[in-house]
Order: sequence, then C-alpha cells, then structure tokens
Amino acid sequence: MPTTAFLGLGAMGAPMARRLLAAGYPLTVWNRTRARAEALAADGARVAADPADAVRGADTVVTMLTGPAAVAAVADAMAPGLRPGTRVVEMSTIGPAAVTDLAARLPEGVALVDAPVMGSVDRAAAGTLTVLAGGDAEPVAGLLGVLGTVTRCGPVGSGAALKVVLITSLIGGVALTGAALALGDAFGLPEGVVRDALAAGPLAGAAQRAAAGGAHYPLALAAKDVGLALDAADLPLLRAVHAATADPAAADRDLGLLADLVRAARPGA
Ligand SMILES: NC(=O)c1ccc[n+]([C@@H]2O[C@H](COP(=O)([O-])OP(=O)(O)OC[C@H]3O[C@@H](n4cnc5c(N)ncnc54)[C@H](OP(=O)(O)O)[C@@H]3O)[C@@H](O)[C@H]2O)c1
Repeated sequence: MPTTAFLGLGAMGAPMARRLLAAGYPLTVWNRTRARAEALAADGARVAADPADAVRGADTVVTMLTGPAAVAAVADAMAPGLRPGTRVVEMSTIGPAAVTDLAARLPEGVALVDAPVMGSVDRAAAGTLTVLAGGDAEPVAGLLGVLGTVTRCGPVGSGAALKVVLITSLIGGVALTGAALALGDAFGLPEGVVRDALAAGPLAGAAQRAAAGGAHYPLALAAKDVGLALDAADLPLLRAVHAATADPAAADRDLGLLADLVRAARPGA
C-alpha cells in the first residue's frame, strides 16, 4: 500500500479519506481546521501538524480543497516536504488554468494528476464518485478506484477541464428545471405532472438532481464552478446561471434549491 497524505477534510474530503483508511491505505491527514483532521484519528489516520509534515515521505498526496486559492496556498505550504517521485493527485474543482499554476508550484520531479470528481457527499461515502483523471493516472489507479469509477480524459489539465464542462451543464440543467417548473406554473399545469414529465424527459438527470436528498453541494461552490467556466469562455447563458447561483442568503444550501429560486424568481409569479 503506498504511503498516502490527504489534505483537505471538508464535506467531500473526510468521507473520501475514510474510504482510503477502510481500504488499508496508511494515511496521514491534514486540515486547516485541525479538529476535522483529528476526527479521522479514530479511523487510524496520523494527524499532521502542517502540510509539509503531512506530505513528508508520502508516495501519493491527495488534495481536496475549496478552489484555486486554497490549492495554491496548500501547494506552497507542502512544497518543502515533497520529494521527487511523489505523485500529487489534485481532486478539488479548480479548472485547468489552476492545474497549470499548481504544476508550476511543485518541486521538480513531483508528478501531478488532476482528478476532480462528479458526485456529492453521499457518493463520496459510498465510493461511487465519477473520477475525471488527467495525466498519468496509472500509478494511482488503485487509490482512485477506492473512491469511484475512473474516466481517463487525456493529458494533465483535461480532467479539470471536463469537470468544469460537466458541472456547469448540471448546474445549468438544474436552473433550467426551475424555469420549466415556472412555465408549468404559468400554464396552470399540476406540479406533480410537470415534475414526472421532466424526470422522464431530456433533462432527466438535472430534474432528478434538483429533487435529490443526500447531496450537499452548496450554491457557493456552484457559483465558484460557473465562475471557472466564465473565466474560460464568455457564455451569456452561463452568466445568467451564475447570477442565479450567487444569492448570499442561499450560499450554504444544496444545488437543488437553485430550481426553486429560479422558479420563484419568475416576474409576476
Ligand atoms: N460538495 C460537493 O457535493 C462536491 C462535489 C464534487 C466536487 N466538489 C468539489 O470538491 C472540493 C471540496 O468541496 P467540499 O464540499 O468538501 O468543500 P468544503 O466542505 O467547504 O471543504 C473545503 C476544504 O478546503 C479547506 N480550505 C479552504 N480554504 C483553505 C485554505 N485557504 N487553506 C487551506 N485549506 C483550505 C477547508 O478547510 P477548513 O476545514 O479549515 O475550512 C476544507 O477542508 C471543491 O473544489 C468542490 O467544488 C464538491
């Protein structure tokens, strides 16, 4: 079993790290808020004092952090502890530009795989995430397989790029589900009839996600992810979706609420 460090034990990172511990990986963990790391000590994790301490001697380093700024900060903090031959597996949603930035922050001889995931906290705990891997993921195929099903996307950065494409389409689909429900309201159609038809129609995945329980993907993260898309391409439709996700009062609420927000925002509703 490769010696592994896991940095970032938030809503996604903690259940992912627990799966690795359950699968027998010797795991050192670090989290900015130390209490979240200490919660994994009972599962057999060693709790590191700082990022450099966490990665010292590790074969594989997994990062699961909020976004580009957090990844850059943690990369700089762990760099002194990294040695040539270590493989960094970056699993946060940060987009390809931040992956390039991360590669430049790593010491020479440290390999990088970008491996962001589709699926929320429920699938993280179940080990059924979809892992979108860019770069040479073969040496970490076993580790990634504990977390979910791996799709090889191409060179370094391609996993991060495909993740932004997929998550943006999901967020847009949930927003469109809200618009479709508003249209059903305008026509006076029964809500149940509209929801059932949407769940069986071309927007099925998004309509089901809008009504899903068990997921916790806060709208603040959705706004960050649509922002990553808008950094790469100016798409007016996504600008409207971004505005809909950026409601500070709903920042901690799951993506599903977005359909309700769009539905309720219909002028004259
Ligand atoms: N939630 C989902 O359903 C979901 C699904 C797929 C992908 N993702 C992506 O996965 C990543 C993690 O999401 P999450 O839901 O686990 O988020 P989260 O619960 O908010 O956790 C964020 C983690 O990043 C750490 N962090 C933030 N800023 C930092 C900084 N400046 N320096 C060091 N650590 C920092 C946090 O540490 P503290 O504990 O100290 O705050 C925490 O460990 C994000 O990129 C997200 O877009 C999320």
